[in-house]
Amino acid sequence: MCGIVGYIGQREAYPVIIKGLERLEYRGYDSAGVALYDGKNINLSKTKGKVSDLKKKSSETVSVKGNIGIGHTRWATHGVPNDVNSHPHYSNSGDLVIIHNGIIENYESIKKELINRGYVFHSDTDTEVLINLIEEVQKKEKVKLGKAVQLALNEVVGAYAIAVFDIKKPNEIVVAKLGSPLAIGMGEDEFFIASDASPFIEFTNNAIYLEDEEMAIIRLGKEVKLRKIKNDAVAYPNILELQMNLEEIEKGGYDHFMMKEIYEQPRAILDTYRGRLLADKGLIKMAGIDQHLDKFLNANRIVIVACGTSWHAGLVAEYIFEDLARIPVEVEYASEFRYRNPVITDKDVVIAISQSGETADTLAAIKLAKENGAFVFGVCNVVGSSIARETHAGAYTHAGPEIGVASTKAFTTQITVLTLIALKLAQEKGSLSKERLNEFLTELEYIPTKVEIALQSNEAIEKIAEVYKDSTNCLYLGRGYNFPVALEGALKLKEISYIHAEGYPAAEMKHGPIALIDEHMPVIVIATNKGHYEKVVSNIQEIKSRKGKIIAVVTEGDEQVKALADYVVEIPDTLEALTPLLTTIPLQLLSYHIALMRGCNVDQPRNLAKSVTVE
Ligand code: AGP
Repeated sequence: MCGIVGYIGQREAYPVIIKGLERLEYRGYDSAGVALYDGKNINLSKTKGKVSDLKKKSSETVSVKGNIGIGHTRWATHGVPNDVNSHPHYSNSGDLVIIHNGIIENYESIKKELINRGYVFHSDTDTEVLINLIEEVQKKEKVKLGKAVQLALNEVVGAYAIAVFDIKKPNEIVVAKLGSPLAIGMGEDEFFIASDASPFIEFTNNAIYLEDEEMAIIRLGKEVKLRKIKNDAVAYPNILELQMNLEEIEKGGYDHFMMKEIYEQPRAILDTYRGRLLADKGLIKMAGIDQHLDKFLNANRIVIVACGTSWHAGLVAEYIFEDLARIPVEVEYASEFRYRNPVITDKDVVIAISQSGETADTLAAIKLAKENGAFVFGVCNVVGSSIARETHAGAYTHAGPEIGVASTKAFTTQITVLTLIALKLAQEKGSLSKERLNEFLTELEYIPTKVEIALQSNEAIEKIAEVYKDSTNCLYLGRGYNFPVALEGALKLKEISYIHAEGYPAAEMKHGPIALIDEHMPVIVIATNKGHYEKVVSNIQEIKSRKGKIIAVVTEGDEQVKALADYVVEIPDTLEALTPLLTTIPLQLLSYHIALMRGCNVDQPRNLAKSVTVE
C-alpha cells in the first residue's frame, strides 16, 4: 500500500503535501514524489528513498511554489523502487499527472494497446499505464478530465485510489477509489486529499471518505461533485466530523500496528492472490513460476530456507507441496543451513521466504545455494529488497508494510503465495484432478471473508486472555497442516508477552511433554474437523485427564470438543490444506490480548527487531 496526498486551496501546497507524506510513510517508504502547479507549469520531483530524500531533492531542483499539488510515498508492487518508478507519473503529453495507491491487474494488455497507438513508457509501473489510458480516452472522446477518468476506469481491473491533475484545467483535481482508501478533507475554501486523515486532521476534521467505485471532481470555490464510476450517476457525500487524533489515524483507529495488521489480513490475502488466481478460468498466473516451470517440475526436491514466522510458513508449504504437488520438500532454518555444509545440487530448487527481504541468515543461505548451482526462488514482502534482488526469480506477497515486530499478515500472505505455487505445480504435474484443483481455486476466493468471520471472535478471545494472562508456560498443539500453526502460535505468545510457550505435534505429547501437564498448564489445541480430528480429540482427553486447561480452536458447530475443552474458539470450515490461514487468526489475537494485559510493548517487544539483518 502507498500513501497519497493532494491539496488545492489558498495555502502553499508544498509544505502541506510534504508533511502529509511524512505522516503516511507508515504506508510505504520505498520512494516519494510531488507535483506542483505554479500557475504556469507543473513542477515535478521524485526520488527513490524516503520523504526526507524528496525534501532535499525537490527544494534543490524544482520550484516548490503553487497552491495545487499532489504527492506520493510508495510501497512498490510493480517495478523496483527507483526514481523512474516513483510517483507522480506524467502522461506522454506532459499535461496530466497522477498518483496511485493500488494494483491495476490488466495493465499489461492496456500497455500493449497504448504502445500500438504510439505511447512510450519510461517506467515499469501500472500507474504510468493508467495515466496514459486517461490521456488516450480524453483525446479520443474529446472529453474533460473527469469524464476521461471515469471512462478509463471502466476499462481497468484492480484496486486504486488516484488523484489526477490536468494542466489544461488547473483549478481542479479528480480523485477516484476502488479497494484502496481515499479521504477528502473539507476545509474553508480548501480541499485536502489523502489515504487517511492524518495529513489534514490539523487543518480540518470534516472529511468525506469515498466509497468503492466513487470518484470526485474537486474544484476550488465549488461543492465537491461525487459520481459513480460505473454509470456517472450522482453520489451524495457523507461528510464526517472526525474525532480521531493523529496517532490513532496512523494506526487506522487501532491501538497498535499489530492489531491493525491482524485486521488487514482479509485485504492482504486478497491483494496477494489478486491477478494471480483466476478461479473462473481454472488458472493460476505467476510470472516468476511460469518462466521457470521446468526448474520446479524437474527438481529432485524443494528446499525451503527461512527464519522465525517465515520458517513456519515454509513448514505449511512442505505439507501443501508434498500433499498436492507430490514434490519432496525439506524445510531448513536458514541459520543452520548456511553453516552445516548441506548437500545442494543444480537439481534442487531453493525457496527463500522472508517478509523483510533483509534477514542476514536467509540471505546467506541463498548465496550458499546459488554457489552450489541451485535455482533460488524468493517469497518476499518488500519489493527490491536484498533477498528479492539476490534470488533468480520470485513472487511478492502484497501484504503492505508490516510495522509490528510480530509477523501476522506476512504469515498468511506467505502461505497464500506458497499455496498458489503448489496448486500451479500440481496442475502442471497432473497430481490433482481438475475438479479438486477447481475446488481449491474457488475456496481460496472465500478465504478473505472467512478470515473476517474468524476475526469476529476477538471479544471472546479477549475474555480467554484475561483468564490465562498470568500463566508462566503454555503449550500449543496441532497435527498435520496445523502443526506449523501451533509453532507459530507459540512464537507469537512468547515474543510479545514473554510467557514461555512451546508448539508440538499433538501426537508428540506422549513422548515426554505430557509430563508438563497439570492444572497450571494452559494447552491451546488446534482441533479442526479435518485431518486427524479423532486423534486430536484423544489428545485432548489425555490432557483433560491430567487436569490440563484446554483452549481449543475448532470448526464452527463442533460439539464434541466443546464438551471437553475449557474454552473453544470457532473458525469457519474450509479445505484441510487451507485451515492454517484461519486457525492462526485466534492465536494471533490471543497473544495480542495477553501481551497487552501484561503491559508489554506489543509493537516493539523487548530484545527484538523487525528485521534481523545481523547474524
Ligand atoms: C516473527 O513474528 C518475528 N518477527 C521473526 O521471527 C521473523 O519472522 C523472522 O525474523 C524472519 O523475518 P523475515 O520474514 O523478515 O525474514
